[in-house]
Amino acid sequence: MGKHESLITAIGAVASNGMLGLAGWLPWDIPEELAYFEKTVAGAALVIGRLTYESMDVVPEDSFIVSRQTDLVLRPGCRRVDTVEQGLAAAVATGKPVFVIGGASVYAAAWPYCQRFLLTRIEMPFAGDTLFPASIPLDTWKVVGEVCHTYRERKTGQDVVCRFLQYEQPEPRRIGVDCNSTAACSDFAE
Ligand SMILES: NC(=O)c1ccc[n+]([C@@H]2O[C@H](COP(=O)([O-])OP(=O)(O)OC[C@H]3O[C@@H](n4cnc5c(N)ncnc54)[C@H](OP(=O)(O)O)[C@@H]3O)[C@@H](O)[C@H]2O)c1
Repeated sequence: MGKHESLITAIGAVASNGMLGLAGWLPWDIPEELAYFEKTVAGAALVIGRLTYESMDVVPEDSFIVSRQTDLVLRPGCRRVDTVEQGLAAAVATGKPVFVIGGASVYAAAWPYCQRFLLTRIEMPFAGDTLFPASIPLDTWKVVGEVCHTYRERKTGQDVVCRFLQYEQPEPRRIGVDCNSTAACSDFAE
């Protein structure tokens, strides 16, 4: 990897019927899955959609919030970006690992730049209002890791299998960082 590139990873969870969100939060209540997410992204720079940002109690520093609202007021340590590409470039410029944490619309725009997708497949259908984007061709990515755990889903009281999958995209589109402006340009030439 060149000096202006870094590993960009998307992370999320999806139910067996494709749902990933309900009323601004997750359709399920599985604290162990949430703890895995929090541990994995700790210390990273995050790219976050505005609705997902608003759903979070704690947003770490070096979080880049994608929104078209130029007057958006954000918590300390967070910066608004106009586009997903700008967010990715700014996150890469921090020198930290970069995680795209959703929601659906941000996954849909960011996936071409992601080398990895850490996707937890929750093997139960859930009612929801936001679907994992069908446009993300994960079936063409390589599965390079899989770990399964069974956890109690707290709303239903049922045990549910969670498959923690690690997908890799062989040749992600590259995000370049112009060091003077942190402007993004895709397919940045070394
Ligand atoms: N299961 C999971 O792993 C997971 C992960 C994350 C989120 N979620 C859930 O997903 C739901 C939210 O997802 P969502 O897709 O509705 O919302 P979202 O992606 O979190 O946020 C959407 C907002 O982000 C901004 N945005 C998105 N794409 C943009 C682009 N290409 N350019 C500029 N701005 C852009 C817009 O903000 P403005 O309107 O301000 O312009 C848009 O309204 C919630 O229920 C959340 O809990 C689930």
